[in-house]
Amino acid sequence: MPASVVVGLQWGDEGKGKAVDLLSESVDMVVRYQGGDNAGHTVVIGDEVFKLHLVPSGVLHESITPVIGSGVVVNPKTLISEMGMLADRGIDPSRIRVSRAAHVIMPYHVALDGAAEAHLSGQEIGTTRRGIGPAYADRAWRAGVRMGDLLDARTLRNRLARVLPERNTILTETYGMPGFDLDELTAEALAWGERLRPHIVDTTGLVQDALARGRHVILEGAQGALLDLDHGTYPYVTSSNPIAGGACTGGGVGPLQISQVIGVLKAYSTRVGSGPFPTELDDDVGRHLLEKGHEFGTTTGRVRRCGWFDAVPLRYTVAINSASHLMLNKLDILSGMETLRIATSYRVGDQPATWPLSLDDLEHADPQYEELPGWEPDISGARSMDDLPPEAVRYVEAIEDLAGTPIAIVSVGPERTETIMRKELGPARQGFA
Ligand code: IMP
Repeated sequence: MPASVVVGLQWGDEGKGKAVDLLSESVDMVVRYQGGDNAGHTVVIGDEVFKLHLVPSGVLHESITPVIGSGVVVNPKTLISEMGMLADRGIDPSRIRVSRAAHVIMPYHVALDGAAEAHLSGQEIGTTRRGIGPAYADRAWRAGVRMGDLLDARTLRNRLARVLPERNTILTETYGMPGFDLDELTAEALAWGERLRPHIVDTTGLVQDALARGRHVILEGAQGALLDLDHGTYPYVTSSNPIAGGACTGGGVGPLQISQVIGVLKAYSTRVGSGPFPTELDDDVGRHLLEKGHEFGTTTGRVRRCGWFDAVPLRYTVAINSASHLMLNKLDILSGMETLRIATSYRVGDQPATWPLSLDDLEHADPQYEELPGWEPDISGARSMDDLPPEAVRYVEAIEDLAGTPIAIVSVGPERTETIMRKELGPARQGFA
């Protein structure tokens, strides 16, 4: 059984947690392949709401091995507290595996992220201030601490002795903040290592072994394609590769071991943090989406910017992820709106423009919309396309046509059960089983 990838096709927060949860019945392993505790997955099971930042959402299924791959940057404090939260709620965290090659977010990374953002005043990226960027920067600079290093006192101390003075100089001299003490930091990090020792392994070997034994593995991305370091709206992006290709580098699978890529979309657009957002709505419609869609960041609590569905980058994100199927989430949030709009092209000045655009052009892009009629009734009870008002069917089909890829799943509410599995896509969906 080959691997499946679940990837966000917009600016993150598309509902990937629900996608993974839905597919989990037939899955043995769920692997996070990039990002860190900047992510937030909300999974609703009955009356229970689980908010996960680091641990893959597959942890909620007893039969699944949740894996944090080498491409993730791990804040051990978050991991330990998330494991504690799961144990308190009756979910066994002992199955969680973390790559020994994954880089550690150290407290100085968190301090540097916050300080650098504050220093940029007016030009902030709007990061989650979790130390993600500085940890990836140190990884690329070969100055990082890896999870495996936490298990060996001498290696860890040597590593920190090499990098800490420089980090402390930046903190104290550039930003006027306190530095970190080598002995205290080493002791703290060794304590994390002791706590996490049973979980730290070679996860690439684990994933390859599962695939060789015919197990179904899901590789789960965080954030979304438009926040990708290479393909997103740089510099207003995250510092890793959320796109499906990131699953190979950060999850430990080869490209040909991936048999399907499920691209997750929300029925409208949201963005957290700074950066261009052509279809943004700074009006009552935007506020309606924000409130009805509860568009507040799971990690930071920040208000998400809301806007119309933007189909301009859609073909591009479908292509660069080779999305084989789509999942369209939160269709129910659009109920009760008289008219809906989908951006189908942009104009910059008097010229048509398409994705990808330069940052400057994107900031001046004027979206051209297709208008579609809305629908009145609540659709959260729909379990097949036949249960939807014709206007809602038309909206789904319009997005499907613009994407050029089948929408296999439509979500009409946060619960697992509030889902339409499109029967007509049966053969294409076989790979899910
Ligand atoms: P960082 O990943 O914390 O460095 O933040 C970089 C950009 O990515 C900022 O615009 C964040 O708001 C955004 N970002 C990071 N994680 C998420 C997420 O899970 N959902 C949406 N946006 C995110």
